[in-house]
Amino acid sequence: MREKIVIGNWKMNTSISEAKQLVEELNKANKNNTKTAVLVPSLYINALQNLANKSIHIGAQNVSSFEKGAFTGEISAAMLNSMQVEYVAIGHSERRTIFNETDNIISEKIKISLENNLKPILCCGEALEVRKAGDFLDFVGKQIDFVLEKITANDMKNIIIAYEPIWAIGTGETASAAQAQEVHIYIRNIVKKHFGNEIADKTTILYGGSVKPSNAAELFAEQDIDGALVGGASLNAQSFIDIINANNG
Ligand code: PGA
Repeated sequence: MREKIVIGNWKMNTSISEAKQLVEELNKANKNNTKTAVLVPSLYINALQNLANKSIHIGAQNVSSFEKGAFTGEISAAMLNSMQVEYVAIGHSERRTIFNETDNIISEKIKISLENNLKPILCCGEALEVRKAGDFLDFVGKQIDFVLEKITANDMKNIIIAYEPIWAIGTGETASAAQAQEVHIYIRNIVKKHFGNEIADKTTILYGGSVKPSNAAELFAEQDIDGALVGGASLNAQSFIDIINANNG
């Protein structure tokens, strides 16, 4: 059985007091002590770790591709590891498009994260034009191939993949369950091509893009959708918990 998980991505939101309140609400609402992670502003990691109960993992939204040294403003994989951070998002479409992160940079970030015992959440997904042109499978496949061809089977065991079509992020428009499943099985087959059946079957593949309590159960009913990466809806403790519960129902 592969691990199912719902991960929240707070992006550049919340003040420290709002962040603490959100974690306190999650502590209370997560009655089943289901494992989850929230990717928070790095500045708050320590304070939130001290507050979160054991089942709520505090992760990072980004990491530097460089090891250490004169890189003003960057946070290294070794620093995250020294803070007991487990999960880090890499290659989110906002990093790719707004901050010009290339497949090469993303692959460097994956490599350095694995070397520092972090669990990368490798994000991929196509823009609306690519979806409309019909070559989205090929597009997403290339994003995944670029990283997977540089890592080992053992590395793959520590990676989560998140499929997030850009046209569904923050837009209120979700991919239908069938649209998401089509891409998820395609991604799983790419993992299979690189590392074989057993590792592909164990790889957790999350869907992201306007996941809400109202559409979560339908998405999670698909064979290859193992959870979600949730943006907007993770900023409300109750809706985030409802999504987590839908994944375990
Ligand atoms: P959204 O964001 O749930 O607000 O669409 C998802 C994401 O960007 O991870």
